[in-house]
Amino acid sequence: MKIPGFDLKRQYQMIKPEINGVIQSVLDGGQFILGENVSLLEEEIANYCGVKHAIGVASGTDALLLSLRACGIGPEDEVITTPFTFFATAEVISNLGAKPVFVDIEPETFNIDIEKIEKSITKKTRAIIPVHLFGQICDMDQIMNLKEKYNLFIIEDACQAIGATYRDKKSGSMGNTGCFSFFPTKNLGGYGDGGMITTDNDELKEKLFLLRGHGSKKKYYHDELGYNSRLDELQAAILRVKLRYLDRWISRRQELANLYTSLLSDIPDVITPVVKGDRTHTFHQYVIRAKDRDSLQKYLSDSGIGSAIYYPLPLHLQKVYRYLGYKPGDFPQAEKASGEVLALPMWPELKNEEAEEVAGVIRKFYGKA
Ligand SMILES: Cc1ncc(COP(=O)(O)O)c(C=O)c1O
Repeated sequence: MKIPGFDLKRQYQMIKPEINGVIQSVLDGGQFILGENVSLLEEEIANYCGVKHAIGVASGTDALLLSLRACGIGPEDEVITTPFTFFATAEVISNLGAKPVFVDIEPETFNIDIEKIEKSITKKTRAIIPVHLFGQICDMDQIMNLKEKYNLFIIEDACQAIGATYRDKKSGSMGNTGCFSFFPTKNLGGYGDGGMITTDNDELKEKLFLLRGHGSKKKYYHDELGYNSRLDELQAAILRVKLRYLDRWISRRQELANLYTSLLSDIPDVITPVVKGDRTHTFHQYVIRAKDRDSLQKYLSDSGIGSAIYYPLPLHLQKVYRYLGYKPGDFPQAEKASGEVLALPMWPELKNEEAEEVAGVIRKFYGKA
């Protein structure tokens, strides 16, 4: 049995008439940038997340970049984030001339370790970007306490966590802004790049609308330097169809996660994901820690099963960040995780038999068949 790490074709087959229908109507309508579907998707995402505003942008990366810009982050500023995330989280800080300051992760959730943030705060710290990794929200109450105490901006990197909840609040509804990615493999994914920023703040909303369209409110009149970062009408139309299925798809991911966990949790060499009691996990990724991870990955691959390593090298050890002066051993938990994590096939259309097959091969590898 061949089981890919991810397969978008099955989902498309299930919703093909609806998707094809909306694509056709956008083509017929002739409006391709910032049309009716973009405005409606913005409204629907704002409602879904429980915030006042949502602003469609070109990608999750741009959602982060524009958020930082709207908060006035620039050269000389420091922004705290995790070294165990997709590169874009730190890249946008650097691209604005600011300095990423990394703080190690907690081992259970792979999210930034709240206990370790405060001692990295300096006079230059202007913002924290908590990343809700794999679909589980960070300890936001404690982060919001730091926001108040040190007068910081909080930019939630919710690119992997749309729909996740923390003490009944949705991801992207707690920070100054929330940033979402519609990369095709995300829980809500388009058929190309796309992103969204959520905010309750009217001023930030105005600023973000300005920034995404070349700093211009009135056509050909420019108030400041902005970007070309608009969401395509075609993507918005597709995402509006998919948004209606999102909660069902998240539930299915959770079902599959429970199945994996029930089949793997008695293996001493495997640690299954931990979900904290006050939040939900949307399982954008189902990530285990595995002894002899690389051999297990090869064994799975030889059995026709896809898997992935998010992330093989923490950001503080990346070549591009040598100038920051970090060294191996600075963030032991992030470094340990990089050597142990393995993401198993996780997509809503994955069948129970397939998840059982994946678990069976893992059991066999560890002599537990
Ligand atoms: C945690 C995180 N941040 C940022 C991004 C960037 O999103 P995009 O690929 O849409 O630019 C991604 C996804 O790729 C991500 O997983």
